[in-house]
Amino acid sequence: MCGIVGYTGKSGVGKVLLKGLKRLEYRGYDSAGVAVVQNDGIYLQKKKGMIKDLEPITIPSGNTGIGHTRWATHGKPSDENAHPFKGCSGEFAIVHNGIIDNFITIKEELIEKGHEFSSETDSEILVHLIEEYHEGNLLQTMGEVIKKLRGSYAVCAVQRDSDRIVVARNQSPLVIGIGVEENLVASDIPAILDHTNEVKYLEDGDIAELTPSRIRIWDRKGVPVERETVEIDWTHEDAEKSGYEHYMLKEIYEQPKAIHDSLLGRLVEFDDVDFNSYDTRHIRLISCGTSYHAALVGKYIIEELAAIPCTTDLASEYRYSSPSDLTPFTILISQSGETADTIAAAREAKQRGCKTLAITNVMNSSITREVDEVIYTQAGPEIGVAATKTFTTQLIVLYLIAMELGLNNKRLLRENVQEYRDELRRLPRHVKVLLDQSDYIRDVCDKLVTAEDIFFVGRNINYPVALEGALKLKEIAYIHSAGYPAGELKHGPFALLTERTPVVSILVKDHTFEKMLGNIGEIAARGSPIISVGDEDRELEKLSDDMIVIPSVPPLFSPILVNVVLQLMAYHTARKRGCSIDKPRNLAKSVTVE
Ligand code: F6R
Repeated sequence: MCGIVGYTGKSGVGKVLLKGLKRLEYRGYDSAGVAVVQNDGIYLQKKKGMIKDLEPITIPSGNTGIGHTRWATHGKPSDENAHPFKGCSGEFAIVHNGIIDNFITIKEELIEKGHEFSSETDSEILVHLIEEYHEGNLLQTMGEVIKKLRGSYAVCAVQRDSDRIVVARNQSPLVIGIGVEENLVASDIPAILDHTNEVKYLEDGDIAELTPSRIRIWDRKGVPVERETVEIDWTHEDAEKSGYEHYMLKEIYEQPKAIHDSLLGRLVEFDDVDFNSYDTRHIRLISCGTSYHAALVGKYIIEELAAIPCTTDLASEYRYSSPSDLTPFTILISQSGETADTIAAAREAKQRGCKTLAITNVMNSSITREVDEVIYTQAGPEIGVAATKTFTTQLIVLYLIAMELGLNNKRLLRENVQEYRDELRRLPRHVKVLLDQSDYIRDVCDKLVTAEDIFFVGRNINYPVALEGALKLKEIAYIHSAGYPAGELKHGPFALLTERTPVVSILVKDHTFEKMLGNIGEIAARGSPIISVGDEDRELEKLSDDMIVIPSVPPLFSPILVNVVLQLMAYHTARKRGCSIDKPRNLAKSVTVE
């Protein structure tokens, strides 16, 4: 989950590394550090805390260096456990992302050979292994070192008095940025966008060498290979806050564009995947966190539009489930495409003989290598740890898939699809209307700021939206909150309702509306403050302490609009509470550990 950046060239390595690391801080922010190659050694600066805690630092001038921002796995956050690591001789330095499963055995062997360790991390073994095997050529040494490793790694190594960066990857992302008289390497694209849009993605088992003027790559058999050069259409402005106080707020406001971009070229004909060639009698949707909530909404959408039964699984559970229930078609949803559990679930699904499709936002991310088909959401880079615009665009793709499936199995006629497409086309405008209500939503949040427990309730397709609203509030505002299907409260949680327990209720005018009104009446009778989000209704307004009305859309499309309101609620509540919105405590954007 850590962020890595490496640079070799003449643009002032210190600044490049610090800027790159700031762009990667969403991957981990408990410690950070840089190593800069000098003629007589390697300058190292590392510290517990965020990148800003590294500053002000005076990094000596140099042309080549590596940097790291950490999310602790082995060893607590501390100055000692921060990357980069130098070995005993000080000739080499490394940064690493991933987990080396057999590090304890290797560490013991190295200690016996006289190596002295300064940290509790698994990563530090890498630099000592390099020292142990080095016979004059860092590239060959890296080849020897990775033969010893079990586990996942993206590793970058530098050597005293050399402008080379040698890197290797296995199951952890690593991308090379191709510059002019400079080259870069990083765990994620945002770190290199200031320098180039041309990249090469490394494959598992690859080793590469970068100098300012040359990039060479070898595959796992040691054969020189050319990896395709890919043009990235993200800009460096996409990765900046652009005047917004937080990335999360910027990303919430980017949703009209993200929806538009994800629909672009897909509304007349959606031909990303030929579903006719797959057995889609039953569909399984697998993912984690917010992406799992998208899967839950997706189940309602697909069952409604295509009448195909869907099963949803959390990736971390699916992997250990009984393989007896064979579902021929499996959809994996992952914003980052790097979530370890979802990737493992994709492998498991393949093992079970299923056809697999990934919905992801990150081009060439690890999951794209594991599946038969990929559909990209076009949300642009999402830097805030809390997923916002990517959830919305995952739903957009699920609507498109459901319509296509509905057409294929004749549940939908062309004219029905046309109507739905028109609804999708109108969504960006509706989202803008809600964004314009941000100040009002901020004021409503006064009721949430001091609460210790908050319930989110909804029914049918908006039940998963209630789950998502509760997750967002927990994650960034640190308030305990729970999402419930409204009909379930009376089966237990009612015992918790008091005048200090606000309930955010989602009510849209579908076939559950009347039942929901009844549920809200029961909650109101217990004295809980009620904030309602949904369609305009006199009766509902009377029952609610506050009411946020969404533009009128068919209930099937309401999750996108309701969720924008819940995102703004979480944001404003977190802001009023002074929380670290873009980097909530203990979290990281891509969860690459299982
Ligand atoms: C919550 C959040 C996480 C992610 C989850 C899966 O705001 O962002 O719950 O949704 O870690 O991540 P991806 O979608 O990258 O697989």
